[in-house]
Amino acid sequence: MIAIGCDHGGFEIKEAIKDYLNNEGLEYRDFGTYNTDCVDYPVFAYKVAKSVASGECERGILCCGTGIGVSIAANKIKGIRAAVCSDEFSAEMTRRHNDANVLCLGGRTLDKKKATLLASVFLNTPFDSGRHKVRVEQILKIEDGTFKVDL
Ligand code: RB5
Repeated sequence: MIAIGCDHGGFEIKEAIKDYLNNEGLEYRDFGTYNTDCVDYPVFAYKVAKSVASGECERGILCCGTGIGVSIAANKIKGIRAAVCSDEFSAEMTRRHNDANVLCLGGRTLDKKKATLLASVFLNTPFDSGRHKVRVEQILKIEDGTFKVDL
């Protein structure tokens, strides 16, 4: 199950990504917003991030004007690794190296075709694990305050 959400700035690319998910037969839960009326992006970032952190959804996709606001908000939730991407290489590498579980996209920086392409790369790329697993685990240790660094 994929969690998807947006604010007014990301509404159109969210709808385009839903078309892609429908065509691929991929299940998703749409946390809104459901039109282009002005709304506050942290609300939708929180809903999507919580659904991924709780395990209800495997991955999330969040869209706002730039992708930045929703990423800042989503990354406040423990266990969330939200990445803003605007190119295919970053969308691939944030899965392979960071095991990112939320993709953040900008409706004012990407057209529908590019946004859909980045979503497909994100959803179809596995985590490399290995040395990258150690680093992702270190992120969790920062979150819970148990990460000890020798300076
Ligand atoms: C809304 O105008 C805009 O601020 C929002 O979509 C997003 O770009 C924030 O980062």
